[in-house]
Amino acid sequence: MSTNSKAPIGIFDSGIGGLTVAKAVAKALPNEDIIYFGDTARVPYGIKSEETVREYALQITDFLLSKGVKMILIACNTVSASAKNEIKEKTGSLPVLDVITSGTEMALSQTPNDHVGVIGTLATVNSKAYEKSIHALDSKIKVTQQACPLLVPLAEEGWIDNEVATKTLESYLSVFDNSDINSLILGCTHYPLFKKAIPSILKSDTIKIIDSADSIALTAKNTLNALELLNTEGGDFQCFVSDRPQRFQELAERFLGRKISDVVITHL
Ligand code: DGL
Repeated sequence: MSTNSKAPIGIFDSGIGGLTVAKAVAKALPNEDIIYFGDTARVPYGIKSEETVREYALQITDFLLSKGVKMILIACNTVSASAKNEIKEKTGSLPVLDVITSGTEMALSQTPNDHVGVIGTLATVNSKAYEKSIHALDSKIKVTQQACPLLVPLAEEGWIDNEVATKTLESYLSVFDNSDINSLILGCTHYPLFKKAIPSILKSDTIKIIDSADSIALTAKNTLNALELLNTEGGDFQCFVSDRPQRFQELAERFLGRKISDVVITHL
């Protein structure tokens, strides 16, 4: 494990979606250097097999380790569902946080829960990773999951609040009609982009919407603090991608609302 507080935090995702996590981390920890890897050549992961996702995730882990990171944040729910344990085996004592564990902890701590809803990619839902994570904390909680595979392409296209997005959300979320869920976990990097639209489609303002980006950022801060690894002098944000760095840079700057240093193409 790195004992150098000035070492960067490594964050990775299948593509651009993990910037929701990077943004939350940069806000919670403005003095940390962040290295972000987006696997833009191989996105989406959510429709691939567990074996393939694991192979890709371990390659990215090697890359981040070669950059001397002091902590790794798995921003991708699909990777968290398929490869968390394998990544932890590889990294040993290095702290590795994942959005599923953080999202679960946040959901269960924010409201009394008898029934939790989860939306995610096909791979995340099929893995039942959220269900297992919730039941590890409280086996009595009912969990209803819904895969929403069309939401990733819609978000990538910027179609987050038009008629197509509304109809798609209505169709997927109808599984929660008349249900008694207390919270809904947005179990995919892209879904926070639909956060505004979801409460009215659920026809409820009491259902707590859980954005795992905020929860993992908070966990990262607490973990670094406990390990006395907080940086007070950084703040750089460096992105690496496996394809189309220019497009990534434009989207990232728009999304983060600030200029970032040139995105570097990296073949794993
Ligand atoms: N990053 C993925 C996730 O959070 C969504 C995009 C993909 O399918 O690769 O599950």
